[in-house]
Amino acid sequence: MTAQLTLTELTMEWPNGTRGLDAISLEVPAGQFVAVIGLSGAGKSTLLRSINGLIKPTSGLISLGDQQLTGADAHQLRALRRRVGFVFQQFNLVKSHTVMRNVLNGRLGHRGLAAALLGRFEPQDEAKAMEAIAAVGLAGREESFCAAMSGGQQQRVAIARVLAQEPDLILADEPTASLDPKLTTSVLGLLRRINQDRGISILLNLHEIELAKDYCDRVIALRSGRLIWDGSPAEMSEDRLEEIYKLSDEELEAL
Ligand SMILES: Nc1ncnc2c1ncn2[C@@H]1O[C@H](COP(=O)(O)OP(=O)(O)O)[C@@H](O)[C@H]1O
Ligand SMILES: [Mg+2]
Repeated sequence: MTAQLTLTELTMEWPNGTRGLDAISLEVPAGQFVAVIGLSGAGKSTLLRSINGLIKPTSGLISLGDQQLTGADAHQLRALRRRVGFVFQQFNLVKSHTVMRNVLNGRLGHRGLAAALLGRFEPQDEAKAMEAIAAVGLAGREESFCAAMSGGQQQRVAIARVLAQEPDLILADEPTASLDPKLTTSVLGLLRRINQDRGISILLNLHEIELAKDYCDRVIALRSGRLIWDGSPAEMSEDRLEEIYKLSDEELEAL
């Protein structure tokens, strides 16, 4: 049920003239797990935020399966958003709410707008939420308040919310940046399992290339908004890494 993501010459030019994305073309087949690496400011977040419609790109096309995201009207965009889950660095949970309430929010896109606004759910929404909570290893914690949970647990709740959404594609923007190394590997392992068990495609922004190598099928690298590398983790050589991460004199100047 998942779909191929296709980007064609995707470009995002900010008002000050900076190119956050510079003519990115990319095909992500259904079910692929892709790591997006690159220095801070390379365009990783801009890429993911464009794909789920948080940012409107200046030009280029984005499609998921046979549906165009670029140029979609508000109604179409809502339907498409349901198919794209987003995992944030800072979890973006309602901390004063329970695990269950947060995960149920993942079902909003499956309800009519009015029901969603009123927070009305069907019994099947609760069942899907329960299943998602169990899938991230938090069965029994449905009524816990998120504020009382550790960072690693909160990220699991956020992942359960995305699972309850039943997306075709998960976008994860440095989801482990605020976690310690042990929790980092457990969250990345969870994403890998979700990818493999459910066939959901994943685009994962990561700072650390070594982590990407262990979990992904494919690595793409951005630099100054441009796609400068696309290959398998095994193909990443030290020379390529140097090219991706080496700063120019100009960039050093700007630090
Ligand atoms: N809202 C914004 N307004 C203007 N420029 C932005 C905005 N967001 C990001 N940028 C610029 O776009 C480029 C890419 O940023 P970003 O996508 O956040 O990079 P990364 O996620 O790889 O660190 C940077 O030059 C950044 O300064
Ligand atoms: Mg970023």
